[in-house]
Amino acid sequence: MIDSNVPLVDLHRHLDGNILPPTILKLAHKNNLPLAKHTLHEIEKLSQIQDKTSDLLKFLEKLDVGVSVLATEQDCFEVAYENIRDAKESGLDYVELRFSPYYMALAHQLDLGAVVEAIAAGVESGSQAFGVKANLIGILSRTFGQKTCMQELDALLLSKDKIQALDLAGDELGYPAPQFKEHFIKARDAGWQITVHAGEADGPKSIWNAIELLGATRIGHGVAAAQDDKLMDYMAKHAIAIESCPTSNYQTGTVADLSSHPMKTFFERNLLVTLNTDDPAVSNIKLSDEYDVAYHQLGFTREQLSIIQSNGVLAAFLTKQEKDDLWAKYTQDT
Ligand code: HPA
Ligand code: ZN
Repeated sequence: MIDSNVPLVDLHRHLDGNILPPTILKLAHKNNLPLAKHTLHEIEKLSQIQDKTSDLLKFLEKLDVGVSVLATEQDCFEVAYENIRDAKESGLDYVELRFSPYYMALAHQLDLGAVVEAIAAGVESGSQAFGVKANLIGILSRTFGQKTCMQELDALLLSKDKIQALDLAGDELGYPAPQFKEHFIKARDAGWQITVHAGEADGPKSIWNAIELLGATRIGHGVAAAQDDKLMDYMAKHAIAIESCPTSNYQTGTVADLSSHPMKTFFERNLLVTLNTDDPAVSNIKLSDEYDVAYHQLGFTREQLSIIQSNGVLAAFLTKQEKDDLWAKYTQDT
């Protein structure tokens, strides 16, 4: 269902949720970790969702397997590099990769600043090797609390110019947005753009807070916006994009089934809706699967999906010139 006449982008993809099972096994062997005793099939079972989980926190436990094998900064570099290879294999013209340095450093107590540098270097090197344009989004893992998030932010700011935007992810219900106001003031002062996971595990208020308190111009998931007409009107009027990830929303139990996903409602109410993967390796999906899901299960037409695909370019954290450059390859051929 991907339109071959429109640039293909993924704006919501966790680099640390996209560590492929063969890579997990390879790094487990290299680093002499207990996971190395497992077969590839067992690693797949451990690190990927089987149908669905009970809630977001259970879903996020699956990501723990992948980051547990990151024992050196070089491992982080490799995972970042492989993410660009994966983007290329998925046909992406542009990808925004997000990552939480604290979360990636945690299992083996790596230096936070060094992790950020390794990720930036891996993405840069992969981009050159595979010819896929990429930008980085730093994540504050709210699950670890305000203080740790400030350390995480400071580590990201050491590589300020290699990062485009800041995100807040993790336990939305337990760690609401007001706790992170100061962090996001600092991020905006640094010139970064803002996207926030909101309305995934909590209600519409969480989305309002992301916009009004943290300055988000894009919302990750935003499923709960469907419960609030005023919020949907506000988001449409101010072109606050929604980064939809339907399979992830099914797997976290955010929606009971795919046919009740509100993405179509958002589209019909003129919201700037985009379609993305979230954690491809953990969900065991490709971006093309999400376009198929949107066509077969969410009820979009091909024409509507083509608009959604181009919304990805519109909502990207890119300059007007960079967006024109993405389109150039497609308009020349037609
Ligand atoms: N929500 C919050 N945090 C996350 C997610 C998500 O969907 N994926 C990876 N970290
Ligand atoms: Zn996410």
